[in-house]
Amino acid sequence: MKTSSDYILLVDDEIANLRILESCLEDHGYRVSSAKNADEAIKAVSKMNYSLILLDIGMPGMDGFELCSQLKSDPETRDIPIIFITGHKDSQSVAKGLNLGASDYIGKPINEIELLARVKTHIRLKDFQDNLGYLVKQKTNELQKEIIQRKKTEKDLEKSNLKLQKLIQDTLKLLASVVEIRDPFTAGHQQNVTKLATLIAQELDLEENVSDAIRVASTIHDIGKIRVPIEILSKSCKLLDIEMDIIKAHPVTGYELIKNIDFPWPIAEIVLQHHERLNGSGYPKGLKSDEILYEAKVLGVADVIEAITYHRPYRAGLGINNAIEEIKNNKGILYDPEIVEAALKIIDRVDFKF
Ligand SMILES: [Fe+2]
Repeated sequence: MKTSSDYILLVDDEIANLRILESCLEDHGYRVSSAKNADEAIKAVSKMNYSLILLDIGMPGMDGFELCSQLKSDPETRDIPIIFITGHKDSQSVAKGLNLGASDYIGKPINEIELLARVKTHIRLKDFQDNLGYLVKQKTNELQKEIIQRKKTEKDLEKSNLKLQKLIQDTLKLLASVVEIRDPFTAGHQQNVTKLATLIAQELDLEENVSDAIRVASTIHDIGKIRVPIEILSKSCKLLDIEMDIIKAHPVTGYELIKNIDFPWPIAEIVLQHHERLNGSGYPKGLKSDEILYEAKVLGVADVIEAITYHRPYRAGLGINNAIEEIKNNKGILYDPEIVEAALKIIDRVDFKF
């Protein structure tokens, strides 16, 4: 459909009236089409997007009111402003025309100056309305594009995050396996400890952030053992004091190895403290109760249970009952009582196994 910002449709069954209006408007630069009845008018608006319709009321067949009503009910034509031009200048007709959606009303005989002023005003208003609609549509499109782009970016970011998390987990597993390749006698120790520590965290209903830290730290808690010579790790007789000291350095070595990794949790500190005990008898710093991170206390209990239960190069596995005895006897002395209780509940479960 063609559009024009100054194209006016005249609708009047009186040819003489049409000529007067045509001449007046064309003299002032408007382009004009004429229709002698409603049918011609409907055809005309289907071909051209007029800026304004000047409409007579009294016409044979469909009158001006009906035509106005039809044009205003059609989404294609409802925005074209209509000015009624008629001899019926009584207030009822004015009210009816305006109620039907007409923009204005001019009585006959026509005052040329008044006609031109109103035509100009309504065409300007229509232009403004069209531009406003266009601007809103343009801005809405821009906004929609931005939202789609943002959603795509969010999805991409989510994917990258998942990839990054997987990469971190794979890297941690790789790190953990390096320790166990060198120390086959404790193979599986870190996975077992991770499993039990995670169950204890669940039993204690710890915050997700804390249990995530426990899980990640458990996976690599003995990473520092990669600096302990294999001969010491695999020695089957009692260790010398100097050898024991070398082994006891593994929390510090582990801390040094991972302290610069930007984990969202204090993993290096948890690794450093996993052999600290409540009464200060642990190592490397001999920290006491509240000086020890809660995550390290959970890891410490899971670690000792696993270590006692299973075989070590220098001794056979002592079994789960000895592990239970150790944590029960030292509940509140070496190990946090609440964590011990949680661990005992888990071990007690029929289906529990490392
Ligand atoms: Fe350890």
